[in-house]
Amino acid sequence: MTGDGMKEFIDLRSDTVTKPTPAMRKAMAEAEVGDDVFGEDPTVNTLQGKVANLLGKEASLFVPSGTMANQLSIKSHTQPGDEVILESSSHPYNFEGGAGAALSGIQFRCLQGVRGILEPAQIEEAIRPSDHHFPVTRLVCLENTHNRGGGSIFPIEKMAEIYRLSKTRGLLVHLDGARLWNASVATGIKPHEYAQWADSVSVCLSKALGAPIGSLVAGSKLFIDRVHRFRKMFGGGMRQAGIIAAAGIYALDNHLERLKEDHQNATHLAMGLKELKGVSIDPKHVETNIVIFDVAGSAMKGSQLAESMKKEGILIHAIGKTQIRLVTHLDVTADDIEKTLKAFQKILGKK
Ligand SMILES: Cc1ncc(COP(=O)(O)O)c(C=O)c1O
Repeated sequence: MTGDGMKEFIDLRSDTVTKPTPAMRKAMAEAEVGDDVFGEDPTVNTLQGKVANLLGKEASLFVPSGTMANQLSIKSHTQPGDEVILESSSHPYNFEGGAGAALSGIQFRCLQGVRGILEPAQIEEAIRPSDHHFPVTRLVCLENTHNRGGGSIFPIEKMAEIYRLSKTRGLLVHLDGARLWNASVATGIKPHEYAQWADSVSVCLSKALGAPIGSLVAGSKLFIDRVHRFRKMFGGGMRQAGIIAAAGIYALDNHLERLKEDHQNATHLAMGLKELKGVSIDPKHVETNIVIFDVAGSAMKGSQLAESMKKEGILIHAIGKTQIRLVTHLDVTADDIEKTLKAFQKILGKK
């Protein structure tokens, strides 16, 4: 049982379900604060400097969510009527409430990737000719790691090629780096090395890193000035936000390197799942902390499996009729993974 009397579940639905640790809460309680709308919150300013530095950009701005970070970037890069190229299962296209159309008046051009990864040639082919019949292709959005791609890592060489192509064709590049930290820890490639191949980058503190809230947008000083104006317009200005920025600073200082454990746990899950009846999964596709698998070969629908697992004290997310997503994180231990595999085995049986 938890302090609030709720039954303690092993929660693998998302890496957003983490609770702040006692040390993180202490850092939050002790944070120096000011009014950030006046630019006077020292903790927010420290976080923004730190993230700009980590991403090798001139500036960054603290915002409440990854959705706001992406949508402010789209808004700041485009004009109504522009076309934005992205992958068809990407977050900004599917899971941000239609904000691209509603808030920026842009249209998305969706390209089918392989586990979320696009080829430079696909993008080249999708760029509109300059002719008044067509929308203006303005922006390319990439996602690294790719959520619905199963935490897949966008290879840096492909990012570089897409960026160079974009520059020769007058396009801008935005990177949805909600889980760029995972890509970086898994490959050893620094966040700023990835970020050099994008004009703007959004990163989240409330996913794998375990902070309760917060994302940042990074880019040139001029770009961030524009993002700042739109953040005000979208109602995203926050006052004594140092309270939450402190959690982000703590997370970056203490929870980055440990992402390796989440990746190991995810691989272990995938290896175990592979042995179960009716499950299709290729453990090679599990590159970071997300595991997506299919139970089409079993008698169960994804939602039924989720119900049965809940009875075993484990929460999982059915993302399609027969597709399940599991996400490892700070509040999931190696022992929890063993328990999870045992419960799956009890329900599905061994091959
Ligand atoms: C890749 C990606 N981008 C953006 C977001 C949006 O973040 P938020 O839920 O903070 O708006 C998410 C959320 O899961 C995500 O997975």
